Amino acid sequence: MSETIEVSVVGGSGYVGGELLRLLLFHPQVSVRQVTSARLSGRFVYTAHPTLRGTTSLQFTHPDALDRADVLFLALPHGEAAKAIDMFADKAERIIDCSADFRLRDTESYEQWYGTPHPAPEWLSRFVYGLPERNRAAIADSRFVSGVGCNATVTTLALAPLVDGGLLDHAVADVKVGSSEAGAKASPSSHHPERSGSVRSFKPTGHRHQAEVVQELGRGFRLDFSVTSVELVRGALVTAHCFLKESTSERDLWTLYRKHYAHEPFVRLVSGKSGIHRYPEPKLLAGSNYCDIGFATDELSTANRVVTIAAIDNLMKGAAGTAVQCMNIMLGFDETSGLGFPGLHPI
Ligand SMILES: NC(=O)c1ccc[n+]([C@@H]2O[C@H](COP(=O)([O-])OP(=O)(O)OC[C@H]3O[C@@H](n4cnc5c(N)ncnc54)[C@H](OP(=O)(O)O)[C@@H]3O)[C@@H](O)[C@H]2O)c1
Repeated sequence: MSETIEVSVVGGSGYVGGELLRLLLFHPQVSVRQVTSARLSGRFVYTAHPTLRGTTSLQFTHPDALDRADVLFLALPHGEAAKAIDMFADKAERIIDCSADFRLRDTESYEQWYGTPHPAPEWLSRFVYGLPERNRAAIADSRFVSGVGCNATVTTLALAPLVDGGLLDHAVADVKVGSSEAGAKASPSSHHPERSGSVRSFKPTGHRHQAEVVQELGRGFRLDFSVTSVELVRGALVTAHCFLKESTSERDLWTLYRKHYAHEPFVRLVSGKSGIHRYPEPKLLAGSNYCDIGFATDELSTANRVVTIAAIDNLMKGAAGTAVQCMNIMLGFDETSGLGFPGLHPI
């Protein structure tokens, strides 16, 4: 498809909204129509997103003045998209919701992990989980796509070849995440004296993103999942201790991963034998849509342990980047359009 489409970003003053704008304003087939914020209505977009200064004269629109667009990106706090989904669906042919409101397929699972009944349960089955590496064909055919959990994305991509290959018995995954995961609104835990320098066990058990990983990979393996906040602004790194059903050589594992991700434009395998960049590192991915994956086999293990390591930028592959990738797929654009930025080094 070669025409230009009009998109709007709802909840455009936050961190995910800012990343969506950074991508969409420079996308060759997109024109950004509106960006909403109640708090900053009438102010220039660069007041919230200073790197956009001089690149756009867009001003924030009040959410009540939202017009029709071809695609609506929703980047609202948890629960807000679900409350108004009928209204949003009247405003656009296609919706990509970055929140967790429509990620889980069934209402029981939603209630178990989110602690309340879903406010719009009839909508759950209309949304496709927006991870192209799992659901590309369904995304292409859907009008409604949910965003992804960042910790879920990095874990799902790290484990998928082992699960799909029938090799994984049990994984113990610890995800280390940066502070931007919590959004732009300040809280006691994000206050600089509390957050700076911290390595804080945020959710050793019971993190909601575990449900997304299990939904996407199936129940053929056991997953233990912990999330730890570390001294980073952007980034998520999973270290997954994977216990395999049978002893598997390093060579066979590389063959498996290479085959699995051979046609994925945003998954890179990291296989350095020496040097400081032997394993994936989120710092190198800031602003990029890549997920880097590597692993180390443990020859001394009596339990067929392999440590799988994967890194992403939580605001990109874990949110806005994947959302734009989904838009490209839904509209029949080149899947990589607008997403070429490889990251910075040094940073
Ligand atoms: N941060 C991440 O790494 C990440 C990754 C994956 C998914 N997500 C999801 O993406 C969504 C946005 O995250 P974020 O980090 O960008 O959050 P954020 O920085 O807190 O931004 C939230 C946005 O929603 C608007 N908003 C706040 N309260 C609202 C309300 N009651 N009604 C309508 N609009 C409201 C804010 O606009 P005002 O200016 O009007 O306050 C702001 O534009 C969340 O659902 C989050 O779970 C985030």
